[in-house]
Amino acid sequence: MKALLCKAFGPADTLVLEDLPSPEPKKNEVLIEVQAAGVNFPDTLIIEGKYQFKPPFPFAPGGEVAGVVKAVGEKVSHLRAGDRVMALTGWGGFAEEVAVPAYNVLPVPKSMDLTTAAAFGMTYGTSMHALKQRANLQPGETLLVLGASGGVGLAAVEIGKAMGAKVIAAASSAEKLEVARNAGADELINYSEQSLKDEVKKLTGGQGVDVIYDPVGGALFEEAFRSIGWNGRFLVVGFAAGGGIPALPANLPLLKGASLVGVFWGSFAQRQPQDNAANFQQLFAWHAEGKLKPLVSQTFPLERGGEAIDALGQRKAVGKLVVQVRQGA
Ligand SMILES: NC(=O)c1ccc[n+]([C@@H]2O[C@H](COP(=O)([O-])OP(=O)(O)OC[C@H]3O[C@@H](n4cnc5c(N)ncnc54)[C@H](OP(=O)(O)O)[C@@H]3O)[C@@H](O)[C@H]2O)c1
Repeated sequence: MKALLCKAFGPADTLVLEDLPSPEPKKNEVLIEVQAAGVNFPDTLIIEGKYQFKPPFPFAPGGEVAGVVKAVGEKVSHLRAGDRVMALTGWGGFAEEVAVPAYNVLPVPKSMDLTTAAAFGMTYGTSMHALKQRANLQPGETLLVLGASGGVGLAAVEIGKAMGAKVIAAASSAEKLEVARNAGADELINYSEQSLKDEVKKLTGGQGVDVIYDPVGGALFEEAFRSIGWNGRFLVVGFAAGGGIPALPANLPLLKGASLVGVFWGSFAQRQPQDNAANFQQLFAWHAEGKLKPLVSQTFPLERGGEAIDALGQRKAVGKLVVQVRQGA
């Protein structure tokens, strides 16, 4: 089977397509014939040796896939060969086959094609957990989403609307904001040109927002926190802007009676699998009803998977990029 391999830490153009023997599923694993692999921010870090996990060389990047079960280990009973599935892989997804622990594999409903499924789990799973379990977002509340045209950001816009919130999308360009508007955002802020705090003040009649979803970090972090309202919840999702982990003066949450709330979806899925499964039932139902329309803005063949990672790292992507490992997904 073919895999796009990282053989030494470096930029995306150093990845090489090679033939490897097919993996054998261990007793608790599922072997998947990969149709498509979603591209996520950690892929930009893992190939550079900057991620929390450093897999042994050679490894393929690719943290999530969708495809068809080829074989299962002897202890796997809820899946069988031929099932359409999506899975979190951590890495190894940019390959024709990957073996994954069964607890990281979910059946894909008939209503969803496999390219969409490859772009769905990480982003919608994260944003649903963030807005439901961590923020307890209520209908009628105001949600501010930073990086609102990116993978997790755009999912947060759609889920926020599905939960009945008023959504303010914030992003770095007019083109990106248009993507967020098409996903249902009620109001738009271009934080390259406008003051986030002043615009939020105008849009909320000086009240501030109830919930802030922040996958960007950097200089926006504190500025965004200053636009939170009384009883607000600020979701710490990620640090795509780089430049170190931001810090917050502790008087800011005190003055607003506000909370700084961490979001770690991978850990939640492992520790609370039933809650995560319930989240996905709701997400699949919303998708089937047309309330969620995941945006796959571009697909790449396996040999050009490095270009997809590069586009994400260069802040050029909108919605999701997908590596189409096999045709016909
Ligand atoms: N906590 C969790 O459980 C969890 C789960 C999944 C992902 N994450 C994290 O969430 C973040 C976003 O992931 P993603 O897959 O949605 O990424 P993405 O699609 O690339 O979106 C990130 C957004 O961040 C903004 N950004 C600002 N500065 C940037 C820079 N220097 N480089 C790239 N983007 C920049 C961009 O929007 P603008 O240009 O509009 O600013 C971009 O749309 C990452 O830090 C990821 O690790 C966390």
